[in-house]
Amino acid sequence: MHDIDPHAWWQRSDLGYQSNKLYFAGQSVQNLAYQFGTPSFVYSSARVEANLQRIRKALNKAGLEGRSSIFYAMKANRFAPLLRFIQQTELCGIDACSPNEIKHALSCGFSPSDISFTATSLSKKDYAELIRYDGMSVNMDTLHAIRTWGELKPGSEIGIRINPAIGISRSCNDRLQYAGCNTTKFGIYQEQFEQALELAAQYNLTVRKIHFHTGCGYLTSELEQLDRVFQECIKFVDAAPDVQLINIGGGLGVPHLSSDEKLDLDQWSKVLHKHFAHRNLHVEVEPGDYICKDAGLLLLSKTYVEQKRDTLYVGVDAGFNIAPEPAYYGLPFQPVPLVKNNSPLTKMTVVGNINEALDVWYENALLPNLDNHDYLALINAGAYSSSMSSNHCMRGEFSEFLLA
Ligand SMILES: Cc1ncc(COP(=O)(O)O)c(C=O)c1O
Repeated sequence: MHDIDPHAWWQRSDLGYQSNKLYFAGQSVQNLAYQFGTPSFVYSSARVEANLQRIRKALNKAGLEGRSSIFYAMKANRFAPLLRFIQQTELCGIDACSPNEIKHALSCGFSPSDISFTATSLSKKDYAELIRYDGMSVNMDTLHAIRTWGELKPGSEIGIRINPAIGISRSCNDRLQYAGCNTTKFGIYQEQFEQALELAAQYNLTVRKIHFHTGCGYLTSELEQLDRVFQECIKFVDAAPDVQLINIGGGLGVPHLSSDEKLDLDQWSKVLHKHFAHRNLHVEVEPGDYICKDAGLLLLSKTYVEQKRDTLYVGVDAGFNIAPEPAYYGLPFQPVPLVKNNSPLTKMTVVGNINEALDVWYENALLPNLDNHDYLALINAGAYSSSMSSNHCMRGEFSEFLLA
C-alpha cells in the first residue's frame, strides 16, 4: 500500500512510495540508481504489457474483437530487449517508419507480415529496400509515392495515408499536430484523393487500407475532437470501394501534469464503436506513447542546488538531448525524489548539463529539501526519449535497462 501524498499525482500500483522509498516495477529505485549509475533509463516490461492489454480490451469493448490489430510505433522506443519483449507478448505488430526500423524489428523477432510501414519522403534507395519485404503492409502518403510504388510493384495492394485537414493533440499543442488548419506534409488531402485512386488504378494497385495519424498526446478531454476526426476520415473510406482496413494511427496520450485527466479508454472505445463497429472494416491502431511512455523512468544524479535571483535551481547530470520531449514539445517530465522526507515543499527548477537555454527539465517543481538526496527520477521517460537522443555537447551517453 502506498503512502498518500496529494502532490504525487503520478503514483499508481507499480510506481510509488513504500516506507518513504520510491518503488518502480517492484524494485527500489534508489537501488537501481546506485547499481546502474546515471543517467539511466529503466523500463518496466510489466507496465508495457499492461498498457497493451488495456488497449486490446478497449478494442474488444468497441465491438472489434477479432477484427482489430495493434501495431506498436517503434519510433517511440526501439531498445532491443524491449522490442523482443513486446514481440513475445504476441499482442501487437510493429508500426515502422524507415527501412532501418524494419530491419531492427525483424532482428527482434517480428516478421514482415507483422509490420505496417508508414513513412514520408522516401528515397529511391528506400523503395528498393521496401519491395524486398513480402507480406508487409505499406501506406503511401503522396501521389509521388503511389506512382513510384506502382512502377516497382504493379498489381500489389497498398494503403493510402490521408490527411483529413483536421487534427488532434494534447491541449491543442500545435507542435504535436499532424493535420489541421495548417497544411502539413502528412498524407493525401481530400482534393487530391480522386487523383490518388486513379493513379493507383493506372498501376493496377488495389487500395486496401486508409491510414491516418492526425496528432499526438490526446487525453479524455480531446475525445470529442477524435470523434470529429473519424467523421472526416470515414469519407475517404466511402470513396474507395476496395478498402477493407482502416488504420487510425496512434496519438493516445498519458498525463504529464497533475491537472491532466488520463485517457479514459472506455470512452475511447465508445468513439471507435460509434464509427467502426457497424462497418465491415478491420481496424488498426498504432500507438507509441501510450505503450511505453509511462513505463519508463530516467534516473539522474543531482549535481547542485543553488538560488539564483528568484529561482532555486537543481542541476542534474543529463540534459534535454537524451530526452528531448520537454524542450521540443513542452511536455514536462515530473521530477520525483527517490526518498520521501517530510520537509516542506519548495519550488525548484530542474536543469540539465547542456549549454543551451532550452535545457530545462521542469520549471517550478514542488520538491522537498534535497540536501540528503543523490538522485532524482523523471517520470514519463519511456517514449520519445532515448529514441530521439543526440550526442549534443558530446553528452549523449546513457544506459538502458528493461526490468522484468
Ligand atoms: C504515422 C504514425 N503512426 C503512429 C505514431 C505514434 O504516435 P504516438 O506515439 O503519439 O501514439 C506516429 C507518431 O508520430 C506516427 O507518425
